[in-house]
Amino acid sequence: MDEIMDTPELENMEVDLFVQALHRRHGYDFSQYAPASLKRRVQQLAQQLQCRSVSGLIERVIHEPQLLPNVLDGLTVPVSDMFRDPAMFRTVREQVLPMLASYPQINIWQAGCAHGQEVYSLAILLEEAGLYDRTQIFATDLSERALQQAEEGIYPVRDAQQWSRNYQAAGGKRSLADYYSARYSLLKIDQRLRRNVTFARHNLVSDGVFCEAHLIFCRNVLIYFSNVLQDHVLSLFRDSLVRGGYLCLGLRESLDYASAVHDFTAFEEKMRIYRLTSHSEHEVT
Ligand SMILES: C[S@@+](CC[C@H](N)C(=O)[O-])C[C@H]1O[C@@H](n2cnc3c(N)ncnc32)[C@H](O)[C@@H]1O
Repeated sequence: MDEIMDTPELENMEVDLFVQALHRRHGYDFSQYAPASLKRRVQQLAQQLQCRSVSGLIERVIHEPQLLPNVLDGLTVPVSDMFRDPAMFRTVREQVLPMLASYPQINIWQAGCAHGQEVYSLAILLEEAGLYDRTQIFATDLSERALQQAEEGIYPVRDAQQWSRNYQAAGGKRSLADYYSARYSLLKIDQRLRRNVTFARHNLVSDGVFCEAHLIFCRNVLIYFSNVLQDHVLSLFRDSLVRGGYLCLGLRESLDYASAVHDFTAFEEKMRIYRLTSHSEHEVT
């Protein structure tokens, strides 16, 4: 072929080849992630690992399996905060939990839990609502390393001030410090909050229905996915919820273009909280 490829075209080709190599070598399929942000992260990863180009990264991902946790960390952005978007947590506290209170056992699936800050925020809300003892939280993520950190529940103490403000803005009546102990530069979440949490690896791309959930939290994960993958994941959530169950997405995410949109109603549109109204394909006609 004589045609000269320009630099972005060559870069796109390298990123595609990297994605194929990662899939074939390790079974992780990133082909349906949003292309522009994926390309940026692949290139950053190549730099971090001191590869001359993405092609160099392909070689390493094939021949150095021990790099996989770094690669997944670099591609998946495991950042989070406690009570991130406090107004949303306040809505869950004031409007969603009272509705869940009628169930004798409450199952919550938190998909894409990253380092666990949201899991513990939710556990605090449930504890304060008197519901935690009959709740099971299944906290899942693609990244084994993120799950390990989530399970440890250890964070930099410098984050505590902001998290404390978030907690108050989310309607917290106590002091956030009641839920952790601080030592030097770190804080550790109280083990009591972990008592009803199960951490597990689950890949939203390739794994199936996870549990029969009354509430699914999946925030700031779909933004990294293409519309096709978002559609797939939102159908998975529909199939994992009990009728009348709740789905909480990130504030920049929505159901608008998903085929499952007709199965949900907006419970609090601004907060991206939806409720499952029907199971169209399971309905008896
Ligand atoms: C930006 S964090 C969101 C954390 C938290 N939900 C929040 O909103 O603060 C995105 C998380 O999604 C996870 N993730 C990305 N792709 C995934 C997939 N295919 N299956 C499961 N988790 C995935 C990443 O590992 C990362 O921990």
